[in-house]
Amino acid sequence: MVKKICCIGAGYVGGPTMAVMALKCPEIEVSVVDISEPRINAWNSDKLPIYEPGLDDVVKQCRGKNLFFSTDVEKHVFESDIVFVSVNTPTKTQGLGAGKAADLTYWESAARMIADVSKSSKIVVEKSTVPVRTAEAIEKILTHNSKGIEFQILSNPEFLAEGTAVKDLYNPDRVLIGGRENAAGEKAVQALRDVYAHWVPVERIICTNLWSAELSKLAANAFLAQRISSVNAMSALCEATGADITQVAHAVGTDTRIGPKFLNASVGFGGSCFQKDILNLIYICECNGLPEAANYWKQVIKVNDYQKTRFANRVVSSMFNTVSGKKVAILGFAFKKDTGDTRETPAIDVCNRLVADKAKLSIYDPQVLEEQIRKDLSMARFDWDHPVSLQQIKAEGMLEQVSVVSDAYEATKDAHGICVLTEWDEFKSLDFKRIFESMRKPAFVFDGRNVVDAVKLREIGFIVYSIGKPLDSWLKNIPSAA
Ligand code: UDX
Ligand code: UDX
Ligand code: ADP
Repeated sequence: MVKKICCIGAGYVGGPTMAVMALKCPEIEVSVVDISEPRINAWNSDKLPIYEPGLDDVVKQCRGKNLFFSTDVEKHVFESDIVFVSVNTPTKTQGLGAGKAADLTYWESAARMIADVSKSSKIVVEKSTVPVRTAEAIEKILTHNSKGIEFQILSNPEFLAEGTAVKDLYNPDRVLIGGRENAAGEKAVQALRDVYAHWVPVERIICTNLWSAELSKLAANAFLAQRISSVNAMSALCEATGADITQVAHAVGTDTRIGPKFLNASVGFGGSCFQKDILNLIYICECNGLPEAANYWKQVIKVNDYQKTRFANRVVSSMFNTVSGKKVAILGFAFKKDTGDTRETPAIDVCNRLVADKAKLSIYDPQVLEEQIRKDLSMARFDWDHPVSLQQIKAEGMLEQVSVVSDAYEATKDAHGICVLTEWDEFKSLDFKRIFESMRKPAFVFDGRNVVDAVKLREIGFIVYSIGKPLDSWLKNIPSAA
């Protein structure tokens, strides 16, 4: 019987996953531990360190009862039957595999610590996405340092999406558990299965071998990202031909073999997982002598880069080939709605490009803090295709061109153009008449998420560019503008 669970890493994955587990398994004590004291303090406060709809409620219901957040990593690992490891695994920026391979430094140090402090047998669960066969490496570290204790390694990748984490955790499409195919391995799989069976129907709990579970997570993210790059590549063609990407995506998605979800054309995908996991997949393909398979997946990232560049170029070319000194409002900075997360957000690339062209940006996002935006825009961008040289495109003082404001009306006042970069619901119900009146003319809207009502905006007087849609007729009459 599992009495105590601990999770190392109180991030976007560890925090929400364990909170829901605690809620659904009242008889199990769940501790989430992290080396970062500010993060743990935030989890113990009224202002949680991440924004997720519904999460506050879940945490309030269990915190202090059977859910605990602590920096005493060793104590909780020592006491637990199951230890989840949900630490960060960023892409390596230097050394062997730089630009593609996952950096397992945090994982390894967590594994060594588990081996050091454990005095009883434990199930160690990979929760963070890791390269295929990481479990084998972890197993070696644990067993070679184990002092006779038995460790079972399981892979249990998390499929939640940010912004819908609580909903996804309550009602997952599936839970995937990979383990060793021997008696001890199967017993460990069964123990974890019983935990999830508290709320997930058993037919949705898929049990596989370790390597299948590890690879499935990379594969699922690669397939999802590939759909977005496919629809985004189509969006470029739509703009060139007069087809409408929404109509095309709908027509394509009604084929039950394809399905309607995840076909929204956009300024590009972002988030901590898609690019990182695909790069990792590419690296694994290359290491296994499969360059053709690697190149197939590379193309998914290249199309994503193309989409971001294409969008920024459109902004500049439409505004008479110069944005120098012009105020441009940026609505939305997070990589998607309902999250404050900005990791790999396409907004960084678009803003950088516009700043390089000397635009004055006024940025508004309902959840992202100014400090975060400034940090993101001042950091050197890591070029995955040329990892040896960190792209340092920032010149001194460039950030002075950027202001971060606290509402959309302030951002758009006196602006020449608006770029919608995140699909926040509140952007749909803005008073665009009021916005139009406060803007410089001609007033442009570049909708990178297809959330505004282009017809209505054109009636007001805006020149509207939407991804994958027929271009504004006004624009069509100006050959140099398109
Ligand atoms: C993703 C996977 O969905 C999830 O299963 C995995 O566990 C982690 O990675 P996440 O990155 O949180 O989740 O968000 P997701 O909803 O997948 O969106 C990723 C990016 O794709 C966002 O930038 C989003 O705006 C973009 N996107 C998504 C599109 O551009 N079009 C779409 O149709 C869907
Ligand atoms: C296809 C489209 O399915 C159909 O909608 C369109 O009208 C015409 O083209 P078809 O070529 O007749 O139809 O057969 P389909 O079942 O799509 O298979 C095409 C090829 O893909 C076959 O060689 C099939 O063996 C292969 N295939 C299909 C796979 O290798 N794996 C699969 O999972 C599915
Ligand atoms: P994810 O999106 O995968 O959840 P995050 O970066 O949000 O990733 O969270 C990972 C967390 O893991 C961070 O809060 C980090 O401080 C924590 N962490 C990394 N290494 C260790 C470690 N050895 N022990 C405890 N916590 C760790």
